[in-house]
Amino acid sequence: MTIFNNWDVVAQGWYIACASRSLPREQARSVELCGQRLVVFRGVDGRVRALDAYCPHMGTDLGIGRVEGNQIRCFFHHWAFDETGQCQNIPCGEGIPPQAQVRAYAVTEQYGFIWVYPDQVAPEGLAEFDELRGHPIVCQADRAFERNCHHHICMMNGIDAQHLQTVHRLHVQMNLSLQQNQTGTIVDFTLHGQFPATTWREKMGRQVLGPTYTYAMRYAHGCLGLLTVMKNVRLVPPLHMIYAYTPVAPGRTRIQPIYVTRQRQGLGGWLVSQLLLGLTRLAYYLLRDEDGLIYDHIQFSPQALLPIDRPIVAYMQYVNRLEPSIWSRVPPRSAADRTQIPVNGQP
Ligand code: FES
Ligand SMILES: [Fe+2]
Repeated sequence: MTIFNNWDVVAQGWYIACASRSLPREQARSVELCGQRLVVFRGVDGRVRALDAYCPHMGTDLGIGRVEGNQIRCFFHHWAFDETGQCQNIPCGEGIPPQAQVRAYAVTEQYGFIWVYPDQVAPEGLAEFDELRGHPIVCQADRAFERNCHHHICMMNGIDAQHLQTVHRLHVQMNLSLQQNQTGTIVDFTLHGQFPATTWREKMGRQVLGPTYTYAMRYAHGCLGLLTVMKNVRLVPPLHMIYAYTPVAPGRTRIQPIYVTRQRQGLGGWLVSQLLLGLTRLAYYLLRDEDGLIYDHIQFSPQALLPIDRPIVAYMQYVNRLEPSIWSRVPPRSAADRTQIPVNGQP
């Protein structure tokens, strides 16, 4: 298992650099992302660019520099770099040496955040919810928090069928269906079943929402979880929530929850959207604090998995098929090697 749960490898994917509103037009700031120091800056045209932070001249952090038009100018000797990382101007007039270049990264701005991909060109955009594709959306970010384990381990929480009963006391019989996109970067876990009626939560759920329940978890690039609950139930449309994961240091993961819903017309529409965002938050709060203790103390070691753990095995295999990025400290083994999972209970 050379990508899964490996702190030395950063898989290709979209990682949050900072909130959109924290970077006004014509401003720059440096951020620490997956062990890299980057400068992100918003040009006069409103678009954000991301480069390696340290100036190739003498290593000044470009984050303390100045944005000029759509370029960033170093604070120290005023070299100016464009969005490809190429130096375009050196004021002392001695010409531009070929090494006057920094690495540039693909950037996108969505869900209220600036996301960076660890390569100059991203082969695909940020993952979306099928139900929201092509629609204007509204988002609400909750407070980010940290856990003491690798994000691949935190992410498994969303598909660990056993713990729904043992930790959350939800006695749901889950049927799993699994779908992966062509490039293997996105995998969908859909769990659906019948609401039982044993605990007060289940009884209440069944009463309000109907007898069946669908829960969909879309994983993208091993660092993003798109959760949809309340699919195919009465009364409420599907509720959507994103978990964006970033390794902040070996042993620490930052998790950014974002609630998402469709934008609706008029004051009434606005109220409905706000209500649904609130409901999503409530559903998340009901379950969130029940498993924090586990993920802050786990030493993940899957030695004896059961058939019910099939989604976990499928998830580990999916992660190990991802591509490592240039931000990785150690190159992983070959792709064929990576997909060997030495556990029983293979799907
Ligand atoms: S260190 Fe940046 S221009 Fe000299
Ligand atoms: Fe959980």
